[in-house]
Amino acid sequence: MEIFTSKKPFTDYIERQKEMGKKIGFAPTMGALHQGHLSLYKKADQENDLIIASIFVNPTQFNNPQDLEKYPRTTERDLKLLEQTGVVDAVYLPEVQDLYPDGLKSKSYDFGGLENEMEGKSRPGHFDGVGTVVEELLQQVKPDNAYFGEKDFQQLAIIEKLVENLKLPIKIHGAPIFREKNGLAMSSRNERLSSSQREASKIIHETLLKVNDWFRIITVPEINKRVKDIFDDQRGMVLEYFIIADEETLKETDFFYKGHNYRAFIVVLVNDVRLIDNLHLD
Ligand code: PAJ
Repeated sequence: MEIFTSKKPFTDYIERQKEMGKKIGFAPTMGALHQGHLSLYKKADQENDLIIASIFVNPTQFNNPQDLEKYPRTTERDLKLLEQTGVVDAVYLPEVQDLYPDGLKSKSYDFGGLENEMEGKSRPGHFDGVGTVVEELLQQVKPDNAYFGEKDFQQLAIIEKLVENLKLPIKIHGAPIFREKNGLAMSSRNERLSSSQREASKIIHETLLKVNDWFRIITVPEINKRVKDIFDDQRGMVLEYFIIADEETLKETDFFYKGHNYRAFIVVLVNDVRLIDNLHLD
């Protein structure tokens, strides 16, 4: 596995691989890797010749400086995990100036309104930061296929829109949410939970499964109320938001229309750890 810590050697390497006609699969990360991240590379390996990983904790997508500061940085361990997959050919560990030659600031994007829902409301500027770094990474890696987790479903939708708007010749793939045994969605932030908090947090996925049972049987306001009641009874947990949204527009719905696909989205604070999850309803 090759490791690149600056832009020029990395883009030269990519150039050589492209000249050899290699089909490139890429998944960017912010490190603190877990099985959820690794599943992206395993999926990519099935349809590409060369697999590229990147690790960069992107300052412009953090609206909260403390969150950025507390973000776990475990590069040595991450590199071991990537090596152990046996499928990753190269890892890109850029410095700030490799991705932000003109200084750390975001571009401003129009993602057709997707950026104004859910995480866009809760985290102002977040998706401009994500768009800026992902656009630059895609320009440098030049993948044929890029992989993003459904865990961040809104991010996945926004990247699809970004690639469409910029007419980049890249196919974006979504990968299913990889979960702990107890159902909790894997996340770098889970490291900050105590073992009892981790166990208690399984209620997030359990609630989404209940919502799926209630789907098209009881009304949306009734579902919303039941979810709120569940979290009102949980000590140490605060429901930041729960909504059911149309999968296309990501707009909250208060009614299930025929012929539309819906997904439930939830964010829960377990003490100060922000856990995010979602489930397609069927
Ligand atoms: P990060 O949170 O490190 O996630 C990197 C990728 O792994 C994202 O596509 C995310 O959706 C996916 N992922 C995380 N947990 C997952 C899980 N449990 N199952 C499946 N996939 C999972 O998302 C980012 O970084 C950044 O915003 C980034 C796209 C790298 C831009 O900075």
